[in-house]
Amino acid sequence: MTNSNTKPATGKLGIMVVGLGAVSTTFMTGVMMTRKGLTKPVGSMTQYDKIRVGRGADKKYLHYKDIVPIADLNDIEFAAWDVFPVNAYESAMNANVLKEKDIEPVKDELLKIKPMKAAFDKNYAKRLDGDNIMHGATRWEMVENLRADIRNFKQERGVDRVVVLWAASTEIYVAPDMKYHGTIEALEAAMKADNKEQIAPSMCYAYAALKENAPFIMGAPNTTVDIPAMWDLAEETKVPIAGKDFKTGQTLVKSGFAPIIGTRCLGLSGWFSTNILGNRDGLVLDEPANFRTKEVSKLSTLESILVEENQPDLYTNYFHKVRINYYPPRDDNKEGWDNIDIFGWMGYPMQIKINFLCRDSILAAPLCLDLCLLIDLAHRAGRYGTQRFLSFFLKSPMHDYTKGEVPVNHLFQQYVMLKNAIREMGGYEADEEID
Ligand SMILES: NC(=O)c1ccc[n+]([C@@H]2O[C@H](COP(=O)([O-])OP(=O)(O)OC[C@H]3O[C@@H](n4cnc5c(N)ncnc54)[C@H](O)[C@@H]3O)[C@@H](O)[C@H]2O)c1
Repeated sequence: MTNSNTKPATGKLGIMVVGLGAVSTTFMTGVMMTRKGLTKPVGSMTQYDKIRVGRGADKKYLHYKDIVPIADLNDIEFAAWDVFPVNAYESAMNANVLKEKDIEPVKDELLKIKPMKAAFDKNYAKRLDGDNIMHGATRWEMVENLRADIRNFKQERGVDRVVVLWAASTEIYVAPDMKYHGTIEALEAAMKADNKEQIAPSMCYAYAALKENAPFIMGAPNTTVDIPAMWDLAEETKVPIAGKDFKTGQTLVKSGFAPIIGTRCLGLSGWFSTNILGNRDGLVLDEPANFRTKEVSKLSTLESILVEENQPDLYTNYFHKVRINYYPPRDDNKEGWDNIDIFGWMGYPMQIKINFLCRDSILAAPLCLDLCLLIDLAHRAGRYGTQRFLSFFLKSPMHDYTKGEVPVNHLFQQYVMLKNAIREMGGYEADEEID
């Protein structure tokens, strides 16, 4: 390692997950099974990827842990909040993602993860009916309870650092409104006034995390930390934030495939994406107000990769549509179809069809691990505010839309940003151009 200023990963890293459903239990079980040497953390960049540092004769390809001090999996302690009072073992069994043989060896550890009471408001997820909630709490009381939960967890489990990860259901869409979300003062006033329309429960988690010096990651498309008040709070508290929406299946394919069309200067007349999904996430997203949040996030990907202003002959007015259909027989095994209408030489039309038979939580679990480990690393490296280098893992990367900043959605440009950040935090030069 070089002369980097990044602090070492000493002591325990607490990962507090909001939501103890399919994604979180698959993530936790995989980490525990890996620690016992019973499985491999396939798909995790922090555990597998190697990147180049140095140039010319000095170049070396190293794992992240040999460039920067990444927390060891053995040092992770988990906690969770959920609307349902079901422990992580039962929840993993109910989720029906992993086979019993892949859960049983870590049953004892999973049984110990009992969800704390959720900061929840049924209006934000009408299809959920759980009782493990902070009954009657105002938004400000939710914040105070959550702060106490974080402090207690640290103390009881001897945890040095905490990261809070939202892997709970997608809330209904809360459009950023500067009157309530524009400044820290406005946000706090709305929380204290118990403004239930403008303050989503997720904002209470994020606010509590930042105030407790814990980085916050938004894995759903919720606008939670994607508002100026939260950006300012992250700057003020010097804590990193990241979001939104794990980039796992269809959007991963889209952000990796669209560059093929753009690089070869082919035209696009339409891209239709649809999915069938049968897990609880699919059930929540069947509600139009919840789907709206997802739709905004999923639609944003193409526009910054295939840009009309750059190539008016190729990308003017293409039709982009995204749908998710709740279909119980498929459980977590989402099937995505993409129909892409492109045109080539002299405008002749062609079609590309992509059929991805994926497993939602299997794709999301390694992202949870990477996002938690990398945001903890960023914190120790003295970084704070929106972590753009984590866009690689996110469908709808946070950016300062109030200043017209354009997010980077192109998968390979995002990878360059990730590699450069790792290099910098390891004391090397960020030497790749994003172009
Ligand atoms: N799996 C993927 O590929 C993927 C990709 C992108 C985003 N996501 C998002 O990740 C999230 C989790 O997905 P999942 O499949 O695990 O869903 P899930 O329904 O299995 O789990 C979500 C859990 O969150 C709980 N919850 C809801 N609101 C809460 C609150 N306010 N506080 C505490 N707990 C709360 C629910 O009770 C539920 O148990 C969803 O928002 C989903 O949209 C998943």
